[in-house]
This record gives sequence, C-alpha cells and structure tokens, in this order.
Amino acid sequence: MKVRKAVIPAAGLGTRFLPFSKTVPKEMLPVLNKPAIQYIVEEAVASGIEEIIIITGKNKRSIEDYFYNNAELELHLQSSGKLDMLKMIHQPTTLANIHFVRQKTALGLGDAILTARSFIGNEPFAVLLGDMIMEKSLSCLNQLINVYNEYKAPVIAVEQVPDLEIGNYGIVLGEKKGERLYRIHRLVEKPKTELPSRMAIMGRYILEPDIFDILNDTKPGVGGEVQLTDALQTLTSKRSLYAYQHEGKLYDVGNYLGYLIASIEWSLKNEDIRDSLYIFLKKLIADIEEKN
Ligand code: UTP
Repeated sequence: MKVRKAVIPAAGLGTRFLPFSKTVPKEMLPVLNKPAIQYIVEEAVASGIEEIIIITGKNKRSIEDYFYNNAELELHLQSSGKLDMLKMIHQPTTLANIHFVRQKTALGLGDAILTARSFIGNEPFAVLLGDMIMEKSLSCLNQLINVYNEYKAPVIAVEQVPDLEIGNYGIVLGEKKGERLYRIHRLVEKPKTELPSRMAIMGRYILEPDIFDILNDTKPGVGGEVQLTDALQTLTSKRSLYAYQHEGKLYDVGNYLGYLIASIEWSLKNEDIRDSLYIFLKKLIADIEEKN
C-alpha cells in the first residue's frame, strides 16, 4: 500500500526554547523567511504525501492560521500591486490537504501520534517531527519511502552523532543489512550510559497502524512522557523494524544551537544574502581571533 498520509507532531511544550516558546510555537521559528513547519510540509509533499495531519496543542493556533488564507492581507497586497508577496503568502495554503487535531495534554511524542489514529485508519503512514528540517532536494522521507516500498516493513531515519551527543537522542542498535540499512534489535531513548552505537533517531519514520495498539499500552518513560522509542522497542519483538542511515542532514531547530546552525548554513546557500553574510562572518571570526 502506498504511503499517502503523514503526521506532523507539533504539540510539544518546547521547553528548550523558553521563554520564546511560552506563546509562540517553536515550529513557527523562521529559517530564512519561512517557518520551520513549512519546510516539513514541503518535504512531505515532495515525497508524494497527499494528506497531512498536524498535531497541535495549547498556544499553537498560529500554525493553523499559517496554512489558511488571510483575506485582509491578501486584499491589501492585491490592491497595492505586491503580487509576488501575494503569491508567497498564498502558497502555504495550497501545498496539500492539511488537517489539524489537538493533543489534549503534551504527554509525549508517542501520545501525540496516537492522536492521529482515526485519521490514519488502516494504511502505512509517515511521521515527520515538527522541529526537524531538511533541504527538499535530499528529502529524507523520500529515501525512507523507497526502503519501505522494498522491504514492506517500518523504517526510521538515523544519523551518526558524536559520542557526547548520544544522551540527547533515541539510539538504535542493530545488524547491518545493506550499505545504509540496519535491522534494529534495540532502541534506547536518551541513554544515560555508554552504548556500542552512535546511530541516533532523526525525526522521520514510516510506520504501520499496528503501532497504535502498542502506543496505547506504552507506559510513560524518560521524562515522564509516552515515548515512541519505547513503543518501537516493543515492535521489534513482534516484527522487523529497519533503520536507514539517510543521505543529507536533518537540522534540529527545536534547540537554539541547532536553530542557529540551520539558519547560518541555509543562509550561506541563499544567493540573495550569502555573499554579505560570508563577509560578515569572516570579519567576525578574524576579530575574535585577534582578541584571543
Ligand atoms: P521534542 O521532544 O523535540 O519537543 O518533540 P518538545 O517536547 O516540544 O521540546 P522540549 O524537549 O520541551 O524542548 C519532537 C516533536 O514532537 C512534538 C513536538 O512539538 C516536536 O515537534 N511533540 C512532543 C508533541 O507533538 N507532543 C508531545 O507531547 C511532545
């Protein structure tokens, strides 16, 4: 069955971005001139996804507003002849069939995905975390869909991370099955002790509806949250689950270092500003080195 539907969980409290995220969703942080969540919707659409459900929560109203028309602004841009801008603000409303549902309480990523159960029904589906972005041309989701189509089994994206960072991620251990493919034996959410693996789960998944019953029975884990990683560990005792070390890089914009790195790297690829930014950064680094 074709992967047609995607879930974008965006209901988290975003505590790493407080105080900013007290009222503004971190998923709306701009990278260049677009909010993070728009890149994620674009990646899904470019990978063949037809229906998207965004999981929202308290203080997340602006995400919904962003994907609907703003008649007053559109009228103003139309009457003042700013047609390029009109096109730009209209574009997010035409990207895909986007639906919204609220997670009642931010009980964790696993609980957020469970909220999409009736929307997904009986088909395979994609999950794209609302705070991890990637350049469209390399679409991680597309790579996962190709693996899913070949192996007909759930698959998750992983990247190698430095030793020091493994405590920030879900880590997978598995046996190599192909150049970039692993069959997973074990998953550990934010490990506190050393593990013989640095393969970190990177926010893109293809799952099947059998995950919902497992999520329903999953008790809160690390941080008191219902963890998708724990449900996936249960899944491995029932069937094959794969990890794919995808090409390209996902940027975690849900913390401010990751956000700054994404903003700088993406800006250095933008032809309107890259030259000026490059000159600025070069001078800044030279000044810092001189002072040291
Ligand atoms: P994170 O763990 O990165 O987000 O979840 P968080 O909990 O909002 O952030 P911190 O750790 O407090 O800073 C990854 C994605 O899952 C969503 C988040 O919105 C984010 O896009 N999420 C997380 C939910 O939808 N519901 C939850 O209960 C938790």
